[in-house]
Amino acid sequence: MRVLAGAMLWLFAGAAVTADYTYCTLCHGANAGGNEGIAAPALKGIEPWYLTDALAAYRNATRGKEYGQDTAGSEMHTVTRQIEPAEEAAILKFFDSLPATRLTTTVEGNAANGKKLYAETCAACHGPRGHGNADLHAPDLTRLNDWYIVSSFARYQSGARGTDPANVWAYQMHLIANTLPADYAIRDVARYLATESRNK
Ligand code: HEC
Ligand code: HEC
Repeated sequence: MRVLAGAMLWLFAGAAVTADYTYCTLCHGANAGGNEGIAAPALKGIEPWYLTDALAAYRNATRGKEYGQDTAGSEMHTVTRQIEPAEEAAILKFFDSLPATRLTTTVEGNAANGKKLYAETCAACHGPRGHGNADLHAPDLTRLNDWYIVSSFARYQSGARGTDPANVWAYQMHLIANTLPADYAIRDVARYLATESRNK
């Protein structure tokens, strides 16, 4: 009986405890605020549907498989071998339990010009102020670090991300990036998106 009571107490206490995904923050930064040194973006505030999309794509190797070209993506592709889809709710709960994160500005650019460019080319999918559109599977860009917007856009453009038509969403983004000139002012867009961030 005492053993049973002990087990019940343990179960009760366990229900209130958030599962520990600190190992995500070892790469994704304190408070999941991103780590530029290893090119791992901020995850704080990630939309549940986009977490599902991204982990599924790494897992089925339609993202991060451009080995030799996309080292950051292939790193995360390896990590997904350790994460089950059933864990996603617990992962989100863990991120929510972290203190608010404050993204620092690292990219130089002209926010006013970025706002104009964003409205012309990006808003149709990523929403009027960058907060995403679930119906189109276009994620919130204001959750991300400015350097990640620049580096991932460059990978879509160069063909190091999104080249597999089986990943419908990433492929779409790859095609868009390819319609834009190589010297597209992505830094200005990143600078603008930082002004719309909820992580500030
Ligand atoms: C060994 C380092 C490492 C660990 C540990 C790690 N990640 Fe990552 N993760 C990365 C890198 C690097 C990227 C950037 C890859 C890219 O640009 O495609 C990334 C990208 C992601 C993305 C895509 C983000 C986006 O905006 O597209 C998600 C989601 C993600 N990681 C979730 C997690 C979760 C959840 C955990 C813990 C269970 C985790 N990661 C642990 C290195 C890591
Ligand atoms: C036709 C719709 C569409 C347009 C227009 C579009 N995007 Fe995207 N974008 C997407 C989709 C869908 C994804 C998700 C891709 C994936 O899951 O890998 C995405 C992903 C991204 C990502 C990666 C986010 C992450 O967390 O990894 C960045 C950065 C991005 N877009 C920037 C832009 C910018 C900047 C513009 C304007 C120049 C733009 N997008 C225009 C549909 C679009």
